[in-house]
Amino acid sequence: MTGAASGMGLETVKALSGAGATVYGMDLRQEALDSALAGVDRAEGHAADVSDSSAVNAVFETVKTRHGKLDILVNAAGVSTPNREKQAWVDGINHDMITAAQAGQSYNPEFMEEITDEDFNRVMAINLNGTFYTMRAAVPLLKAAGGGSITNFSSVAGLLGIPMPSYYPASKAAVVGLTKSAAAELGPFGIRVNAIAPAGINTPMLNASGEDHVAFLLAMQPLKRVADPAEVGQTVLFLASDAAKHYTGQTLSPSGGALMA
Ligand SMILES: NC(=O)c1ccc[n+]([C@@H]2O[C@H](COP(=O)([O-])OP(=O)(O)OC[C@H]3O[C@@H](n4cnc5c(N)ncnc54)[C@H](O)[C@@H]3O)[C@@H](O)[C@H]2O)c1
Repeated sequence: MTGAASGMGLETVKALSGAGATVYGMDLRQEALDSALAGVDRAEGHAADVSDSSAVNAVFETVKTRHGKLDILVNAAGVSTPNREKQAWVDGINHDMITAAQAGQSYNPEFMEEITDEDFNRVMAINLNGTFYTMRAAVPLLKAAGGGSITNFSSVAGLLGIPMPSYYPASKAAVVGLTKSAAAELGPFGIRVNAIAPAGINTPMLNASGEDHVAFLLAMQPLKRVADPAEVGQTVLFLASDAAKHYTGQTLSPSGGALMA
């Protein structure tokens, strides 16, 4: 389980643990993992940057040594911008865009020419490469278990056309492609691979994007609500369970109807 120290990843750890699973949670910082997972039964944290394949492989080696197999992989680690400075830049543009819309004026955000190679590559390295690295490391262990479930976090932003820095939607659309191709390859081994494309979930990532952005998201969706991350943890638990044994290559979207697929 990646992104285990916060938000939907943490709530997924709790849901899986509640169903009896032993959970290995990965995230950037050991202290954050220790504090988030304290009191969660059978859950332990292993600090690893998912964009570093050696660090990812080391965690799966531990799982292999201790258990020889794995039943469930969940990839929730992700970032919407490469760092805080770029998040502030995006927030400023979102604010201007929404203020203009409220005043009935048009405003055309300009992201494309401002994106550096470094920023683009960093977001892709975490959201896309990191998802691939854990899947590659997990597959032998899932095969050893005779099958299992992989759930990858995409985003509504990867499936709708929303003006924002393109590294995020590009990485999240690619996660859907990775999910579908892996589902086709791994189905014969009893391994199901699905994606979640959320929007408007009450997590630190959403809150970091500012009130304007949340208002914009609510305007896009019919249910007009921000969801609790525990709701998404239950969706991942469903996908990992036998109740979902006929689901593979699917993208489920807990988004209040922002995306209807
Ligand atoms: N919150 C939303 O509304 C929303 C909407 C669409 C998609 N998502 C996606 O859902 C997933 C979970 O998001 P969340 O809202 O729970 O976010 P969050 O910020 O609460 O949690 C993300 C976690 O990923 C970890 N992480 C970031 N970079 C990492 C790296 N390189 N290696 C290991 N861990 C790393 C962070 O430390 C954090 O604990 C993300 O992939 C995000 O893109 C969220």
